[in-house]
Amino acid sequence: MNQVDYLRISLIDRCNFRCQYCMPEGAELNYILKQQLLTDEELLTLIQKVFIPVGFTRFRLTGGEPLLRPRVVDLVKAIASFPQTQDLSMTTNGFLLAPMAQSLYDAGLRRINISLDSLDPDIFNQIIGNNGRSRWQQVWDGIQSAYHVGFDPLKLNVVIIPGVNDHEVLNLAALTINKQWHVRFIEFMPIGNWQLFGDRGWVSSAELRQQICQRWGLSESQVRGAGPADVFKIPGAQGTLGFISQMSECFCDRCNRMRLSADGWLRPCLLNETGQIDLKTALRSGVSTMQLQEQVKKLLALKPEINFKQRDSGTAAAYSRTMSQIGG
Ligand code: GTP
Ligand code: 5AD
Ligand code: SF4
Repeated sequence: MNQVDYLRISLIDRCNFRCQYCMPEGAELNYILKQQLLTDEELLTLIQKVFIPVGFTRFRLTGGEPLLRPRVVDLVKAIASFPQTQDLSMTTNGFLLAPMAQSLYDAGLRRINISLDSLDPDIFNQIIGNNGRSRWQQVWDGIQSAYHVGFDPLKLNVVIIPGVNDHEVLNLAALTINKQWHVRFIEFMPIGNWQLFGDRGWVSSAELRQQICQRWGLSESQVRGAGPADVFKIPGAQGTLGFISQMSECFCDRCNRMRLSADGWLRPCLLNETGQIDLKTALRSGVSTMQLQEQVKKLLALKPEINFKQRDSGTAAAYSRTMSQIGG
């Protein structure tokens, strides 16, 4: 069992995209009301006085789309300034990134993961919805800006949907050859859009690896990420290929993370909300940060037991929250 020292913090549940597999157009979305969101001050208090004292040192900002959060650069700066912060990263759809990349870096953000499901602007628009408005170029500019500003590693997340972008696997994998970009294929999970999942199914990492291996060969990389990805390399490539295989494998025993939702619920596992704690309500009702530390420690102790139920809950139970609400 890994040390759990990595917190994924969802800054906002809203998003400017409507990815088919996540929060498709027409889906009923119960957005968190503004007064239910953790304020900047509450979030920073929780990080500094609850999470850091119990051993969290690595923080990833997610959403929805985290760049939609007002004053996000100031938040990055404040989190980066805690002496215990060893790693500060973000997962974004990249649409608002180009003009913000330098200030995020200057504020202390160092690692960034950007979703890129297609290299074809038409297919990309089909996947992200938004009434077909063309957004690919702006995301691509965001990726280029992040690269030039110096985010390292720069990871690109791909979800393959059968019949939609499965013919692009090799082109997407090829992005790792000449640049130090890290492309990760994430197995499509039945969270968010169950209907699409039922209609289309999913492609396993093993199938993708076979395809890539036939074209270029594939070697196991020396790099072992801290996260859920298995990392490989096209021989001679500058970047790596990651495979996040939560449908075909169980990587719970190496899980190093918990999740804090934008409305302040601490959740021990992406796929299992057992034991989750409403930290915001506790904080607002005057529970001391020392007492909250104790509650978090108890949840940390229970985590291995909760993790191992992940596979069952992943296939059987309905999730009460979507990826955009949990923060991916
Ligand atoms: P780093 O390892 O820090 O780069 O982060 P990451 O790869 O976990 O971050 P990212 O936000 O890019 O996550 C990519 C996807 O990995 C998520 O959307 C999930 O599908 C999957 N994932 C991340 N953490 C977990 C986890 O704890 N359990 C499961 N089942 N999937 C996870
Ligand atoms: N299955 C797999 N990955 C998903 N993501 C969002 N919804 C799903 C899903 N149902 C991915 C996004 C993003 C990451 C944070 O989560 O593509 O890269
Ligand atoms: Fe937004 Fe990410 Fe969900 Fe797409 S996958 S709708 S970018 S939160």
